[in-house]
Amino acid sequence: MAPAHFSTTQLRLASKGVFLLVFVISLLSCAAARQPQTQKLKVHKHLKRLNKTPVKTIQSPDGDMIDCVHISKQPAFDHPFLKDHKIQMRPNYHPEGLYDDNKVKTESNERDSTLKQLWHVNGMCPEDTIPIRRTKEEDVLRASSVKRYGKKKYKSTAAPRIMPKSADPDLVNESGHQHAIAYVEGDKYNGAKATMNVWEPKIQQPNEFSLSQIWILGGSFGEDLNSIEAGWQVSPDLYGDNNTRLFTYWTSDAYQATGCYNLLCSGFIQINNNIAMGASISPVSAYRNSQYDINILVWKDQKEGNWWMQFGNGYVLGYWPSFLFSYLADSASMIEWGGEVVNSEPDGQHTSTQMGSGRFPEEGFGKSSYFRNIQVVDRENNLKSPKDIGTFTEQSNCYDVQTGSNSDWGHYFYYGGPGRNPNCP
Ligand SMILES: *[C@@H]1O[C@H](CO)[C@@H](O)[C@H](O)[C@H]1NC(C)=O
Ligand SMILES: *[C@@H]1O[C@H](CO)[C@@H](O)[C@H](O)[C@H]1NC(C)=O
Repeated sequence: MAPAHFSTTQLRLASKGVFLLVFVISLLSCAAARQPQTQKLKVHKHLKRLNKTPVKTIQSPDGDMIDCVHISKQPAFDHPFLKDHKIQMRPNYHPEGLYDDNKVKTESNERDSTLKQLWHVNGMCPEDTIPIRRTKEEDVLRASSVKRYGKKKYKSTAAPRIMPKSADPDLVNESGHQHAIAYVEGDKYNGAKATMNVWEPKIQQPNEFSLSQIWILGGSFGEDLNSIEAGWQVSPDLYGDNNTRLFTYWTSDAYQATGCYNLLCSGFIQINNNIAMGASISPVSAYRNSQYDINILVWKDQKEGNWWMQFGNGYVLGYWPSFLFSYLADSASMIEWGGEVVNSEPDGQHTSTQMGSGRFPEEGFGKSSYFRNIQVVDRENNLKSPKDIGTFTEQSNCYDVQTGSNSDWGHYFYYGGPGRNPNCP
């Protein structure tokens, strides 16, 4: 999901430190100190807004509480524009594909009809409810501020700026976020699809993350970037652990005031009662061992204009209403697929946070992480092989990407790497 500016990361770290300091000092100074109380009140108010009264609660083995909330009580309906919104229970169009998702037999799609999120072992949500990962007090307290919880860091660019070869190299390194991606641009896109290998990359520092996702982009990389993002991530700051989790993100102003992860603000309307955004995906792939992958499809319903998301081979999760966006209210102008990590340069060296499996593309199947059957949705609502696929990485000695194509996997790529190593000091 998203990238950030190195200087912003430092700033954020600094502000976090200041916040903690203020908190501790106020705690120490006297019992009547206003600061912690006000903060506590703010946090509790925010939690009350986020956590809707559930019909039922399921405790997940990973410590998550999954609240089954009535579909009409979900966070989206706090949005003033959605007060009288009539929920669409199914899309008008579903793009037709090139590949039968069941043709390539991997362990994960053989059992995809019963694909599990970890919390499923302890129950399911009833019809007319949606599962929501409950936000805990400590989740909010890990954020730099209550307002920033669930959002990308201010001024960060979750999507890599693709630089022309002639670009100033200093600019390429401007951001502390590093990517290894494949992309297409120069057309009007109505969606994208991919089958993504799922791993659990190691994160060196809690303020860093590692993710693998699809970006659906519109506008320029300035202040008005529209982005819809979906994939898996490991983010200790956001979730408090190192689990691999399904996530989404959206913004209509380059990660500034609008948008958030998952259902952490009003926007996405969920209709599915099986899959919880932000919940752990299990199992994950192991080196030279079983490989698991997930399908993600995001597409535009050309009748209503909403952007829909499907997970697995048939879980239509819900949609982002068209009015949330400016450019994407029409169509996307760029699609990206791949990995991203935050390099906070701990100890002044490159982070050892892994991308993908933590192995370079050269190692291939069972070792390096992949995206396969990458496709775009064209203007006629058909899934098509992408044309003129480009690749981008800031430092190929740290994280790299290699594309290929064959009849089973269509267009695919391997991506990722270990971060810090003798060639990436
Ligand atoms: C980015 O910075 C690293 C080291 O700081 C350097 O090795 C690399 O060449 C730079 N990348 C580009 C594209 O200039
Ligand atoms: C996450 O992993 C890091 C090392 O990669 C470890 O230091 C940390 O304790 C782990 N955090 C949790 C909550 O398990």
